[in-house]
Amino acid sequence: MSRPVKPATAEQLAERIRQALGLHPADLVIKNARFLDIIGGQLSTGDIAIHGEHVVGVCESYAGRREIDGRGLVAVPGFIDAHVHIESSLVTPAEFDRNVLLRGTTTAICDPHEISNVLGVPGLQFFLDSALGLAMDLRVQLPSCVPATDLETSGARLDAEQLLSFRNHPAVLGLAEMMNVPGVLRSEPGVLEKLAAFQGRHIDGHAPLLCGRELNAYAAVGISNDHESTSRDEARDKLRRGLQVFLREGSAAKTVAALAPLISDAVSPFLAFCTDDRSPLDIAEQGHIDHCIRAALTAGAPMTAVYRAASWSAARGFGLTDRGLIAPGYVADIILLEDVETCRVHTVIRLGEVVDDELFARRQPVPAIGRNSVKLDPVAPQQFALRACGPTGPVIGLRPDQLVTDHLTLSLPYRNGQRLANPDQDVLKVCVLARHGTNRNIGRGFVKGFGLRNGALASSVGHDSHNIIVVGDSDRDMALAVNRLIALQGGLVAVRDGEIVAELPLPLAGLMSDLSFSEVCDRLSVLRRAAWAMECRLREPFLSLSFLPLPVIPHLKITDRGLVDVDRFELITT
Ligand SMILES: [Fe+2]
Repeated sequence: MSRPVKPATAEQLAERIRQALGLHPADLVIKNARFLDIIGGQLSTGDIAIHGEHVVGVCESYAGRREIDGRGLVAVPGFIDAHVHIESSLVTPAEFDRNVLLRGTTTAICDPHEISNVLGVPGLQFFLDSALGLAMDLRVQLPSCVPATDLETSGARLDAEQLLSFRNHPAVLGLAEMMNVPGVLRSEPGVLEKLAAFQGRHIDGHAPLLCGRELNAYAAVGISNDHESTSRDEARDKLRRGLQVFLREGSAAKTVAALAPLISDAVSPFLAFCTDDRSPLDIAEQGHIDHCIRAALTAGAPMTAVYRAASWSAARGFGLTDRGLIAPGYVADIILLEDVETCRVHTVIRLGEVVDDELFARRQPVPAIGRNSVKLDPVAPQQFALRACGPTGPVIGLRPDQLVTDHLTLSLPYRNGQRLANPDQDVLKVCVLARHGTNRNIGRGFVKGFGLRNGALASSVGHDSHNIIVVGDSDRDMALAVNRLIALQGGLVAVRDGEIVAELPLPLAGLMSDLSFSEVCDRLSVLRRAAWAMECRLREPFLSLSFLPLPVIPHLKITDRGLVDVDRFELITT
């Protein structure tokens, strides 16, 4: 289980020595496998001997009380996801664990800021409780930006004092991504209080396009990494200033292919992989960190450097010095690959145990929370009317596979004082409805790039405040979709021509399903096909939708308070 590895006693160390020397049979021996030496770059031969949770011997011959035949397989250190919001997989931490661990992710550093934005401390506590009972090692970074900005209405706020009360929890490493870059640069007291409280701990960054003295200032407060670089120049600049760069393969934001040329033997100690926000379909169809590795190898990055970034480098970045190598004294988180070139996972060993159903069955279940989190009365189509003084105004421009949007200015049909959606221009209406019960805000705007016709898509997943977001070409269909979401108490809904054609309930905080991972994938496939049937061109329509309200990513976003010019960090009129 995921409880922290206890320091060994003198007697345990004596047994480690006996098993390493071959005086006693090892608890477990992987025989006949080669292992990838991620320091020297060689495929080494020899058995891997394990005592309890630790490797005690490599490169020699060993006998074990239990032996695994690794003939034809290559052992590599367990993979680490350096930054993930598990809520984006739409399943509980336990279901996430069951699926990504079998794909080789033995450690994940999560930031539960999605559930924290909805439920506050109880949401954070749910993740901390869950972390201690999983089979994988789930570490929790305490959410630094709840809410992400004051330009939106969240369900909760977390201040420095609340975060401090969790600082010494065994699953906590430090402070999660500091997205409030302007707050850092302006030395806002609340931001500095949080940064001061976590000096000497691990503080994650999130600084898209930041450069120059501002980047220096951001790094100078102890922020040690960034996962928002979209170009090699941006990543190089951040590396030069000491930030560890995470290559991200989320579902809406992918940078591994673009940044793969950076992965060299010299630079890989300062890199890592992360998934940030990855949909269950992408996990099921493509993989998790194993997919990041494949993407990097496909892009031509050198193999040893790639596997090092996925394990040792990520571990070092978080001070997890007990893992990331297959070597004596390191924890026995080991992946046996059928093929190292394509990262095909055969067997996963976590803390010296083969990962199987029996291991998952021994986990401690944590009761689900967050039911009835959608506090919103049914809506009428007229509430989506967008009044404006002329046909021309701001439109959010979607970029495929990116979170960054364009700030467009377009002329749209204009009648009775209202600006209207126009599918012929690929422009839909987009609205965000506050759903946390504190106000009845509705933000209204337009978005270009969905391609959708004759329908609407609605979601209670809307980063990071997770208000309800709906997009469509008719106010009638948009209202129908939102009202269905209210009845479901959260989820994803597709409406076509006045009819609900697909849905996935997400009753836990409006973010996560209580279904199994495979059931969620099945429902999500139906939803995606429903969107595609309405001519939507996006690979993951609901994921793209869910990032439109995130006002910390340039350039134009929408929250329940209205359109946000992210570059100026202010609300603008429609
Ligand atoms: Fe993130």
